[in-house]
Amino acid sequence: MPSTSNRGRALAASFFIVFAAAACKSKPAEEKAAAPIEAPTKKTELPPAPAGFPDLKIPADNPQSPEKVALGQQLFFDARLSVDGTRSCYSCHQNEHGNGGETPLAVGAKAKKLTRHSPVIWNTGYFEAFYWDGRAGSLEAQAKGAWGGGNMGVGADNLGAKAAQIGKIRGYRKQFKKVFPTEGITPDTIAKAISAYERTLICDDTAYDRYAKGDADALTAEQKRGWALFIGKGQCAVCHAPPLFSNAMGVPGGLYYNAGIGTAGKPEDQVDVGRYAVTEQEADWAAFKVPSLRNVSKSAPYFHDGSVTTLPAAVELMASGGIANKNLTPLLADRGLSDEELTSLVAFLGALDCGGKLERPDLPK
Ligand code: HEC
Ligand code: HEC
Repeated sequence: MPSTSNRGRALAASFFIVFAAAACKSKPAEEKAAAPIEAPTKKTELPPAPAGFPDLKIPADNPQSPEKVALGQQLFFDARLSVDGTRSCYSCHQNEHGNGGETPLAVGAKAKKLTRHSPVIWNTGYFEAFYWDGRAGSLEAQAKGAWGGGNMGVGADNLGAKAAQIGKIRGYRKQFKKVFPTEGITPDTIAKAISAYERTLICDDTAYDRYAKGDADALTAEQKRGWALFIGKGQCAVCHAPPLFSNAMGVPGGLYYNAGIGTAGKPEDQVDVGRYAVTEQEADWAAFKVPSLRNVSKSAPYFHDGSVTTLPAAVELMASGGIANKNLTPLLADRGLSDEELTSLVAFLGALDCGGKLERPDLPK
């Protein structure tokens, strides 16, 4: 599919030709009125902005349906799933925090301190490996992991008993009968419904998307400078490739890099080794999945350990080459951006704010 931006550029080019042809025939006095031609020419100097998402892959054994999505949405917001009734999935993936977490490190049921920051889950269905280290191979597996693990505190062995409790809620029983007529209420069907809901959390309505589809005014002049830096001098798009803004999305197994986050001033045996725990490959030591930057302006604090409080500081850290350590990726380096350029880069990231929000449904009784 030709990208919309290419079409936009083609339009700009044909406008230029038509205008130039007209100008040739016109008298010199009229030629002077040709100043507006600058605008399209300038636009074509900006890097082309890819628009349009790829198709979302839906697992064959968990097709989407409106009823299933509605059920999954209720389960996502329902704290009765947790061991002590204190946590729903939404507790750590809230609108107010860009659908990531509020605290640097997440705090699970029974006030259990977890070791990582809750990531933004917009467009999460585009990943093919979940968590900062990609240890879950599907959303369904991730949901069971969060539910059985420290996040919700139920315990992997107790999911069946918890599913049976959920089954005692009449409103759920009715819905499961309709959505999973043969399978009933099990840990697997609960995870499937939640995952179906998560696959509807699509953020594709940002200022960037409007710009990429041809609305030249959707970005401010400063954001346009930021976009040029993002894809050019700053080399951010090498890993945060548009339009999804994570090149780990759509890649089986995901993509992981060591930016040095969480390594500073720590003995090696106290560092969160990230992807290394999954693969045991030295190249993956303290490497983490490339997060999408959609909604990033709202999702402070940043990185897998929530160690950076503000977006300008996170951007500066990435643009200056990350934190030196034994396994820092060669794809990060000091890009020599001025303070002004860093400000433009941050302004551009604001153009990736999602329009939508997660809606809390009525919960069944
Ligand atoms: C106590 C806070 C907490 C709760 C409750 C919680 N999560 Fe999370 N979530 C996290 C943290 C922290 C991570 C990252 C953990 C890691 O990488 O090891 C995460 C990761 C994820 C991811 C992976 C995103 C990605 O980019 O890989 C998804 C999807 C997700 N959670 C969905 C859910 C669902 C569904 C539930 C409910 C069943 C849930 N979460 C409950 C904190 C929480
Ligand atoms: C080599 C690949 C790579 C490049 C190049 C790169 N990043 Fe990243 N980015 C990552 C990874 C990996 C993480 C997560 C690191 C972690 O938490 O340990 C990340 C995290 C971030 C975050 C935090 C997001 C969040 O949700 O916590 C921001 C903001 C960010 N990058 C911006 C940028 C900017 C701006 C540039 C260009 C100056 C850039 N990145 C270049 C790989 C990259």
